[in-house]
Amino acid sequence: MEQAESHVFYPMGFNHSYSVLESGKGVCVYDSEGKRYLDGIGGTHVISIGHGVAEIGEAMAEQAKKLCFVHKAQFTTAVQERLAARIAAMAPAEMNRVAFATGGSTANEMACQLALYYHQERGKPSKTRIIGRWHSYHGRTMATLAVSGSMFVRRGLVHNFDFPHIQAPHCYQCPYKLTYPNCQLACAEDLAKTLEQENPDTIAAFIAEPIVGGAGSAIVPPPDYYQKIREICDFYDILFISEEIITGFGRTGKNFGIEHWNVTPDIITATKALSSGYAPIGAMIVHDRICKTFKDSSRPFIPISFTYAGHPISCAAALAVQDYIAEHNLIEQCAARGEYLKGKLKDLADRELLIGDVRGKGLLIGLEFVRDRTSREPFPFAKKLTKTIVKTALENGLIIRGRNGTGMGKDGDHILISPPFVITEEECDELVEILATTIAQVKKSLNLVCVES
Ligand SMILES: Cc1ncc(COP(=O)(O)O)c(C=O)c1O
Repeated sequence: MEQAESHVFYPMGFNHSYSVLESGKGVCVYDSEGKRYLDGIGGTHVISIGHGVAEIGEAMAEQAKKLCFVHKAQFTTAVQERLAARIAAMAPAEMNRVAFATGGSTANEMACQLALYYHQERGKPSKTRIIGRWHSYHGRTMATLAVSGSMFVRRGLVHNFDFPHIQAPHCYQCPYKLTYPNCQLACAEDLAKTLEQENPDTIAAFIAEPIVGGAGSAIVPPPDYYQKIREICDFYDILFISEEIITGFGRTGKNFGIEHWNVTPDIITATKALSSGYAPIGAMIVHDRICKTFKDSSRPFIPISFTYAGHPISCAAALAVQDYIAEHNLIEQCAARGEYLKGKLKDLADRELLIGDVRGKGLLIGLEFVRDRTSREPFPFAKKLTKTIVKTALENGLIIRGRNGTGMGKDGDHILISPPFVITEEECDELVEILATTIAQVKKSLNLVCVES
C-alpha cells in the first residue's frame, strides 16, 4: 500500500510501503493480493499457537458478551483470577502473585517501579536506579528505553535517566575478547564492578532477558552466568528482574527462560506467547518475599497499574491460549521442533560461510553473519546486509527480523527466527530452503566475499 493513500502514522517512516495482511492460518499469513508468507518470526515472537485458531476468538466473544471491563481499584473478575492462578502454577516456586500489564513495555515499567517501592518499604529510598545490559531491549516508555541497551532505540531519546549498563554475555563476540570458561565470567563480574563504581546504595534492580531477543538475536549466556548474577544481586541487595517478554510461556522449550539456569528471580515480566497475539496482555510475576514486604507495611496501596491492564477479554484470550498450549503439549513440541530447526540451520551454516553462528534455545534461534568466519569480523554497517536479507526474504515469502550491532559498535548483522510453536518439520525445511536461497541472492547482489582465514 502506498502511504499517500493512508491516514496511519507509521513507525517505519513516510517512505516505506506496506503490504496489507488479510488473514492467517497456522504458521502462514496472506496479504490482500493473496501472497502467502511463512511467518518465521511469529509476528515478532508473539504467536505461539499459530494464526487463526477459532476457539480463541470464541472464548473472547463469550467474555465480551458477559462483561467487557471493570475498574480494578474496586473489582476483580473471575477470568483475571483464573489466569493469575494459572500463571502462578507455571512460574518458579515461591512466585505466586501476578499483576497484569497491557504489554511488554508496561510490564517492565511496572517491574522497575515495584523495585523502587520495595526498597522504600525497607527503608532504602536511595535505591532508585536500574542496571541494564548492552544489546538488550525492554520497551518504549522512557524508563524502559533508558534501561534498554540497544543503541539504535536509545539514541535521540534517552537523556535524563542515569541507568548504568553492563556488558552482554555474548561469547561469540566477547566484549573482553576472552573465552569461556577461562574468562571466569568477566561479563557477570561486570555487574559487581558496576555496582561498586556506581554505589550499590543507589541501585534498586538488575534487569536482563535470560536469552537476549531481538537486540542480540538469541544470545545464550554460559552455563553458570545466572547463578553468578543471582549471587551478586543478593550480595548487593538488588532485585533481579528476569525479562521474559519473549522467552516467557514456552518459547525456549520451558515455561520461563530462566529455568534453563535453575535460578529464581525476584520478578518475572512476560507477555508475547501468553496470549499468542490474540489480545494485548502482559504479566509481572512477583516473588512471595516481595509481596510479604508490602503485606507487612503500612503503605495503603501500590499504585502501579494501567487502565486496560488485566482486561477481561485479554485474560479470556490468554486463558484459552494457555489451555490450547497445554492440551497440545506445545511447549515440549517447541523444544523438539527448535532442536530440529537449529540442526537444519547448522547444516546450512556448514555449507554457507556467511553464517558465523547459529544459537538459541527452543524456537528462539539467532543467526549471526560474518565476513570472516575465523576472526568473526562482521561486514560494515554501511553494507546494509541485515536490511537486504530481511527484505529479500520477504520478497521470497519468508518473514524474519534482523538487527545490527553485535560487537562493540554498529557493525554486526544478525537475524532472529521465532516461528509459532506449531511449525511442522516440513515447514522448518521450507523456512531453511527460502533462507538459503535468500542468502545466495543477497551475497550476489551485494557482492559479498566471505572467507575462513
Ligand atoms: C525483549 C522485549 N522486551 C520488551 C518489549 C516491549 O514490548 P511491547 O512492545 O509489548 O511494549 C519487546 C518488544 O518487542 C521485547 O522484544
